[in-house]
Amino acid sequence: MLSPKPLPAADKPTLYRELNLELSGLLAGERNAIANAANLSALVFDRLPDLNWAGFYFLDAETGGLVVGPFQGRPACVRIAIGKGVCGTAVSERRSIIVPDVSAFPGHIACDAASRSELVIPLRDGDKILGVLDLDAPVPSRFDDDDRRGLEAAAALFVAGSDLGTVPRV
Ligand code: SME
Repeated sequence: MLSPKPLPAADKPTLYRELNLELSGLLAGERNAIANAANLSALVFDRLPDLNWAGFYFLDAETGGLVVGPFQGRPACVRIAIGKGVCGTAVSERRSIIVPDVSAFPGHIACDAASRSELVIPLRDGDKILGVLDLDAPVPSRFDDDDRRGLEAAAALFVAGSDLGTVPRV
C-alpha cells in the first residue's frame, strides 16, 4: 500500500505565525513565569525541527550573572557570566546572536557536545534585558533571520505575558 504523501513543510514565516499563535493560547490566563517559560521551551522544542536544546537563562540577583531556567534537552551549564559564551555575549552586546558554527565562536560554552549551531535571543523589557532564550541545533547553520524574527516575537510574548518582577534587569 502506498503511504500518504507527506504534507509540504510550511515556510518559516508561516511556521512561526502558527507557533506564536499557539504560544499566545498557552500564555493566556497564566502569568507565572516558570510555568510560561516551561511551556514555551516545550512548545519550541516540540514544533521546530533539528533542535537539541531550547530554554531560558535568567539574570540572577545574587551573582549578577545568568542562571539556567526551564528548558528541554540535556542537562546544561547552570551559570554563565555576562559577557561569556554566546548567552552572556547576547546580554552584554544587547542583541540576538546567530552562530552558524559554534566551534568558530570564541568562548562558546559547550553544554552538549552535539550542538553545532546556536541562536540566542535577549529577553527585553523596554530598554532592559532580564535573560535570554537559547536554542541549540545538532546541525551547522540551522538558524537564519526568519528564526531570529520568529523567536524574538515569541520572547516578547513571553515577557509581556509573565510576571517577571523579581528577575533583575541590566
Ligand atoms: N552554548 C551556550 C551555553 C548554554 S547551552 O548551549 C544550553 C553559550 O555559549 O552561552
